[in-house]
Amino acid sequence: MTRLVTVDPNHPDTSIIADAARVLVSGGLVAFPTETVYGVGANALDAAAVEAIFRAKGRPATDPVIVHLASVEQVHDVARRVPAIVYDLARAFWPGALTLILEKQPCLPPSVTAGLPTVGVRVPAHPVAHQLIARAGVPVAAPSANRFSRPSATRAVHVLADLDGVIDLVIDGGPASIGVESTILDLTVSPPVIRRSGGVTLSHIQHILPEATALAEFFGDHDVHLAPGQSLRHYAPRAALTLYIGQVDDIALRVGADVRAAVAAGSRVGVLSPEEDLMALAPRLAALGRTGRVVTMRYGARRKLDESAHELFLALRALDAEGVDLILASAPEADGIGLAITDRLTRAAEGRVVRLHR
Ligand code: TXA
Ligand code: MG
Repeated sequence: MTRLVTVDPNHPDTSIIADAARVLVSGGLVAFPTETVYGVGANALDAAAVEAIFRAKGRPATDPVIVHLASVEQVHDVARRVPAIVYDLARAFWPGALTLILEKQPCLPPSVTAGLPTVGVRVPAHPVAHQLIARAGVPVAAPSANRFSRPSATRAVHVLADLDGVIDLVIDGGPASIGVESTILDLTVSPPVIRRSGGVTLSHIQHILPEATALAEFFGDHDVHLAPGQSLRHYAPRAALTLYIGQVDDIALRVGADVRAAVAAGSRVGVLSPEEDLMALAPRLAALGRTGRVVTMRYGARRKLDESAHELFLALRALDAEGVDLILASAPEADGIGLAITDRLTRAAEGRVVRLHR
């Protein structure tokens, strides 16, 4: 049985937090909101509890889990030989959407880090996450609260859709504000490299750590150097998704033609695009609208990419619920948070990416 409790995201009821903390400390699994996405947490020092997360998610044992802390002082409980730069980064970005890869403490169960000698740590900013971890008094291992390979959960209903019956408790604290996962910065290599783009951008990090590098510059375009687990099928809706990257006019031409061809071939098609793309596509899809074979889903806007990030996983799950056969998604050529959006959609597309260059 999974219990669901609802809290005020900014002022969660302390008795609910205390109860959830007891579940964690006694080896249970608790899903909770963070500012990036919902996480499903277990006591990171309890090997059996951590293994239960892997079972609940259907997650392969090769995919390490991020350890969530209440403050930077707690880093030493799970990491050793912590470099001084951690404190500068913590001052700038913690609590917040940045995960740091450090050398792990031997006391941490190997399942947390998938047997790696390193550990990912983050101090989340969401008051519910923060108060839960502080109250539990233990580091909390928490992957995103979705079944493995599914779009991450940004609402409590998404958590229940994927994990009802296999975890103990879900704390509903409303929608996750950022909507894509934390940025992962590996400090165990030189120069430090971003292994997953996310809520904190490279240029933000470079203010504190100028030598920090994007993955592509560090290794070339080789997928194998992403964070482990990231190169697998990920964030994927049930329908096969194709991603188109380019400018609005080119997207309208190409996606418009591809939607018409897919409908002619008998498919129900979902179109997942920022507002500007949908506006440009509208006249091209007008005739098809009456067939009921095209479902359009907006995720934010090119001029408001924060909104796009916030709505991305919600929109993917909503298109799935529509039961479309195919999804044609579009995204701008982007940097900043746009990089995280394109990254997630590229993985959801499992390589079906069409780049429309001028
Ligand atoms: O925003 C987030 O980071 C969310 C919330 C819940 O905090 N969590 C999250 O966890 O995205 P998850 O399990 O979906 O992604 C964790 C990823 C792993 O797939 C892996 O790529 C990377 O973090 N990771 C964790 N530990 C690592 C390590 N020691 N070395 C390299 N990568 C690691
Ligand atoms: Mg995940």
